[in-house]
Amino acid sequence: MTKSTRSMVVLAAAICLAGSVSFAQSSGEALYKAKCQMCHGAKGAADTPSAKMLKVLPLGSPEMKKLTEAEMIKSTENGKGKMPAFKGKLTDPQIKEAVVYFRSLK
Ligand code: HEC
Repeated sequence: MTKSTRSMVVLAAAICLAGSVSFAQSSGEALYKAKCQMCHGAKGAADTPSAKMLKVLPLGSPEMKKLTEAEMIKSTENGKGKMPAFKGKLTDPQIKEAVVYFRSLK
């Protein structure tokens, strides 16, 4: 498979996953699974194909550990490196919930 076919497959899988997420779960968890998991992994371990392709750091890495919640919210709003900006795609409270859930995974 070429790189772009592989990303398409990953994207399609992510979209299917997003569709099956039940909103009975906490919204942070649902948001994370729908919007972040494909690049950060189910446990934040950056173990998905997209994570490897984009060189995403696992949540347990020293660089991630030293980030505060506010810093993470800022990077999620504005994007960082290859991570897309979520401002405008998610509301401020949604970004906060997704980050809080992400931080709870470690
Ligand atoms: C398209 C893949 C992708 C998606 C989707 C994605 N991220 Fe990321 N994320 C990355 C990459 C790549 C980095 C590393 C950026 C860098 O340091 O260059 C990163 C870094 C981060 C960081 C660390 C930022 C910092 O200041 O070092 C946080 C926090 C984060 N992501 C949270 C999220 C949250 C929350 C979501 C969902 C709302 C999300 N990400 C969705 C790819 C993604």
